[in-house]
Amino acid sequence: MPENKDKLIEALKRYFPERVFSKIERDPTKLKVEGERRWVTILFGDLSGFTALTEKLKGPEEIVTVINRYFSRMLEIVGKYGGDLDKLVGDAIMVLFGAPVAHRDDPLRAVSAALDMIKAVSELGSVDTPDGKVDINMSIGINTGEVVALNMGSDDRMEYTVMGDVVNTTSRLEGIANPGEVIISEPTYNEVKDEIECEKLEEVTLKGKKEPIQIYRALHYKVKEVEREEEFPFVDREEEKKFLLEYIEKVKKGKSGKISVYGSYGLGKSRVCKEIIKGIEGVRTIHVKGREFIPNIPYFAIREWIRDEYGESPPDSLSIFLREPEEESDLKKKVESRWSEYLKGVLNVSPLLIWIEDWEHLDPLTGELFTKMEEPERLLIIAESEEPIPEFTQFEIKPIEESQVRELSENILDYPVSEHLLKFLSEKSEGNLYSLKLLLGWMTENE
Ligand SMILES: Nc1ncnc2c1ncn2[C@@H]1O[C@H](COP(=O)(O)OP(=O)(O)OP(=O)(O)O)[C@@H](O)[C@H]1O
Ligand SMILES: [Mg+2]
Repeated sequence: MPENKDKLIEALKRYFPERVFSKIERDPTKLKVEGERRWVTILFGDLSGFTALTEKLKGPEEIVTVINRYFSRMLEIVGKYGGDLDKLVGDAIMVLFGAPVAHRDDPLRAVSAALDMIKAVSELGSVDTPDGKVDINMSIGINTGEVVALNMGSDDRMEYTVMGDVVNTTSRLEGIANPGEVIISEPTYNEVKDEIECEKLEEVTLKGKKEPIQIYRALHYKVKEVEREEEFPFVDREEEKKFLLEYIEKVKKGKSGKISVYGSYGLGKSRVCKEIIKGIEGVRTIHVKGREFIPNIPYFAIREWIRDEYGESPPDSLSIFLREPEEESDLKKKVESRWSEYLKGVLNVSPLLIWIEDWEHLDPLTGELFTKMEEPERLLIIAESEEPIPEFTQFEIKPIEESQVRELSENILDYPVSEHLLKFLSEKSEGNLYSLKLLLGWMTENE
């Protein structure tokens, strides 16, 4: 048996990162492997120009600084879309969407991340070296399919990775992508085509394959995220809208405040806020979102908003958020004063609404910044969360009423809903919009 185990280790070694093996090799009896089949989307990205750069840059510190600049941006983007950075191999990255954690829209997350990465790399621009400028470019391949996900390692440390044909194909797709291009396979395309504008390319036969496959170039979002039509028409929530709109009117006249819009998940907190924000005039909005999986980057949520708003060249008062923490001593204090300086500038021009989604998932420093923040005139914070946020004005979002269940259901199903069906839908969904949407979606698909 030990001999077999040695053979297994030899065979697997080619496919797995060194880190997984170094320890097991020392003591093969510790090897543990657990496997399962998973549906995932894989992103392979390669930064071309890096090798040339490392030759042209003299000191190791310089190289590290440049590499950090690029890779910390990539990590931020991976975190934003809830991906899992599986491997860093030289100047290439492999990111998994759908394992270890799955989302409904993993392919869309992967393609969105890829488009953001290409944009970020082009915004970071070329790098100055003693021998002139070096351009950095990124090429990306994306594929969706079933893999074997393996959890392997020793008792005290398990490593997660995936293997299978889907992985190899993804790397080949990356290989044929030109700099600045995102090449996706047909299974990925089918999942993202409603949201992402894509260009159909010639079929290709990938190395080691017999059959040609259809590929696409992902170009851009069809519409901006905030402008995207919601698939379900809005069921009016008069009471909620009234309360929030009246508050906003007072803020326009000089009042300030922090409101905690709370209620369990899927009740419709974000949708109410979105509808209100779409309709108000004369108020500037800052939109910040907590993310479930955040890389260890201070002020992650604010950084994300800054990138959306200003790209790589934010106003001076905000540039501190983008610095690496080790470059700043006393980071928190400086950030607090720069942030209030920035807000003051904005508030001189117009009232301001800061809309925060998923408060409980904010990175701790951003959460603390908003909690401690003073409330200058004409500033309103609306924060959505599942539990009420202490010290904020509380506003609970409740399940919708039966009449609203009827309204939404008839809108979607396009026929009058019987009392019997209404009772079923109300009871099953408990007035939760997310559940109701699932039920109605299921009904329309199975008609
Ligand atoms: N009033 C409404 N009319 C029609 N659809 C709605 C309404 N409110 C919410 N929805 C839909 O129901 C789903 C869940 O709503 P939403 O995302 O706003 O919930 P949430 O409370 O913010 O959930 P979470 O806590 O997960 O952020 C969304 O797809 C949304 O478009
Ligand atoms: Mg929400």
